[in-house]
Amino acid sequence: MKYKDEKFAKICRPIIEHKEFAKMKSIKHHNESVYNHVVDVAYRSYKIASALNLDIKSTIRGALLHDFYLYKFNKKLRLSLVLDSFLHAVNHPRIALENSRKHFTVNDKESNIILSHMFPVRIPKYREAWIVSFVDKFLAVFEYYLNFKKIIFKDKKGVKQAA
Ligand SMILES: [Fe+2]
Ligand SMILES: [Fe+2]
Repeated sequence: MKYKDEKFAKICRPIIEHKEFAKMKSIKHHNESVYNHVVDVAYRSYKIASALNLDIKSTIRGALLHDFYLYKFNKKLRLSLVLDSFLHAVNHPRIALENSRKHFTVNDKESNIILSHMFPVRIPKYREAWIVSFVDKFLAVFEYYLNFKKIIFKDKKGVKQAA
C-alpha cells in the first residue's frame, strides 16, 4: 500500500487483498494499472469525503470497485474506436457492479458510486458518488498527460539515438 494512512488502509484491506481484485494489477489503464488507478481515486476521494465529514467507508469501497471490470480495453484492435469507447463508457460501470456483487457485499451508496462514476452517462445520487466521479475524471486527465509525456519523451530519446 503506497499510502501510509492506517484508517484508509484498514478499510481498503478486505478488498485489495482479494485475489480477484488483485487481477487489476495486470490490467493497464492510461499511464498505469487499473489497480493503482482505483487506489489513487479511493485515496483522494477519501481525503475529500473526510474533510466534508461524509461516509468515508462507502467512499473508499465504492472508489476501489468503480473500475472492477476485469478486461483490457484495447483501443488499437477495435474497428470503431468512437463507438467502442462509447460502449465501454456506458457498460463498464454495470460490469464493475456485477463483479463487485459477485465477490463483495456492496451497499446502496457503494453501488451508486460504481454505477454513476461515468457522469454524465448516469447521474450520481449521493455526495460521495459526485466526489468519486470528479476525482476519477481529474486523475484520468492527469494519467493521460503523464502517458503523453512518456510517449513524447521516448520519441525524443529515439530521435537522439538515431542521430
Ligand atoms: Fe471507469
Ligand atoms: Fe476510473
